[in-house]
Amino acid sequence: MRHVHQPGSKKAKLAVIGLGYVGLPIALAFARKLSVIGFDINEERLDLMRKGVDPSKELDTQAFEDTDILFTSSVEALKEASFYIVAVPTPVDDKNIPDLRLIIKASETLGHVIEAGNYVVFESTVYPGCTEEDCLPVIEKISGLTMGSDFKLGYSPERINPGDKVHTLSSITKIVSGCDAEALEQIAKVYELVVEAGYSKPLLLK
Ligand SMILES: NC(=O)c1ccc[n+]([C@@H]2O[C@H](COP(=O)([O-])OP(=O)(O)OC[C@H]3O[C@@H](n4cnc5c(N)ncnc54)[C@H](O)[C@@H]3O)[C@@H](O)[C@H]2O)c1
Repeated sequence: MRHVHQPGSKKAKLAVIGLGYVGLPIALAFARKLSVIGFDINEERLDLMRKGVDPSKELDTQAFEDTDILFTSSVEALKEASFYIVAVPTPVDDKNIPDLRLIIKASETLGHVIEAGNYVVFESTVYPGCTEEDCLPVIEKISGLTMGSDFKLGYSPERINPGDKVHTLSSITKIVSGCDAEALEQIAKVYELVVEAGYSKPLLLK
């Protein structure tokens, strides 16, 4: 994990924020390779995960075996990470207007925990521009850090389909983007740890 843990004092831990259909499989896949912090705000769901039960009923207990993961709702614990993946829900209302409240809340949480040298990658489904125009200002304002020079931002949409056991995280080509060439290279390297199908032609955020 070159770059990911420097500068700053943190260990090269990866955190996943939002452990649902999308976030839990990602967190467990990384937890076979790295030390992972699985962060969620729902204590009932966290309790099930601590017992090796997927509240979304997609994964069996085996998926939890041989993993290094802390299931937590502690913002303090989240500070231990240096690479953050956001997979909170982004539902639409009956008029198809996206409800950004949860992703903005997650951005606020990130603002309190990131430090210089860290990476933030959004996996939640959002419209073009949302990451930079809606989420980034919240992270920058609370953290006092600047994207690009202080921390790196990326976007990698999840493409899994609940119930589909063939096209899984590791077998679907991953699309990754980064705020600059260095971020893109680093983010792709991190995902290569878990995505056997590789990643798509790099896209830059800007
Ligand atoms: N489910 C799918 O098939 C699918 C496929 C592709 C993309 N997506 C996208 O992935 C994102 C996540 O969807 P999902 O289906 O995994 O959601 P989900 O409802 O299954 O789970 C989301 C989890 O996030 C937690 N959460 C909510 N707000 C939080 C916060 N502020 N901080 C920490 N945790 C929080 C919830 O407690 C829950 O455990 C959405 O943007 C969705 O559109 C979903």
